[in-house]
Amino acid sequence: MEEYLDAIFCEDCVEGMRRRLPDACIDVIVTSPPYNIGVRYNTHQDNLPFDEYLDWMEELARECRRVLKEDGSFFFNIGDRPSDELRSLQVAQRVCRHFHLQNTIHWVKSIAAPQEGVNMGHYKPVNSPRYLNNAHEYIFHFTKSGAVAVDKLAIGVPYQDKSNIGRWKSATQDLRDRGNTWYIPYETVTGAKPHPAAFPDRLPEMCIRLHGLGQDDPLVVLDPFMGTGTTAAAARRLGCRYVGFEMDPHYVEIARARLG
Ligand SMILES: C[S@@+](CC[C@H](N)C(=O)[O-])C[C@H]1O[C@@H](n2cnc3c(N)ncnc32)[C@H](O)[C@@H]1O
Repeated sequence: MEEYLDAIFCEDCVEGMRRRLPDACIDVIVTSPPYNIGVRYNTHQDNLPFDEYLDWMEELARECRRVLKEDGSFFFNIGDRPSDELRSLQVAQRVCRHFHLQNTIHWVKSIAAPQEGVNMGHYKPVNSPRYLNNAHEYIFHFTKSGAVAVDKLAIGVPYQDKSNIGRWKSATQDLRDRGNTWYIPYETVTGAKPHPAAFPDRLPEMCIRLHGLGQDDPLVVLDPFMGTGTTAAAARRLGCRYVGFEMDPHYVEIARARLG
């Protein structure tokens, strides 16, 4: 058995991928890098000069391309500061030197549609007279070819108007493509958080399911920035294998404890 399967390595991800992962061994990458917006991590300093940060993200992308299978998916979650709304797109542009941007998914953390009686979710409030609260992030879906078929209905939603079922050739059941706006709220936080920037459990789960679980061997899912193990836990719930890297020993300890 490959020794990297179901392991989280406490080391730099680019170095670790180079040393441990062979070419084309990964089906799905789900990750959220440090956003370089001054988040207070345990050890990582989240404030590189932006050019250096872009170079780092490009190096990561190059290594991700090498380890990803031809029909693999690379889901890359990133968000902005309200005062600097183009950064995520600049990072995506650098990653696009090595990948095709196949889908841009908007992760909606909070949504208000009062006329429909909807007002749900949480966000980190912005204390500013200029900027609106930032209630969304991106999940860029990169692939090598731009033509990887995905399993849209694996995360589909019921039709609101049931008369659609049967009316369209493709509408054979009460399930439609949910589109590229994904409402995934954070859990309500009542105490100290073990990690300042963990994503919700459902986020990696939906990415892996959208890629498609396949019929044969279990997928191998990579998270180069594993944090507290959210991606690994989702992979395991779905019957996949996982591999991850994380620089901070404290987060690795939490992740390993979570995975038992
Ligand atoms: C946005 S967080 C990921 C959180 C994760 N998705 C979760 O749910 O817990 C980014 C993580 O990258 C880690 N990190 C920073 N530099 C790294 C590097 N060079 N290699 C591996 N991990 C690194 C940080 O310690 C941090 O935990």
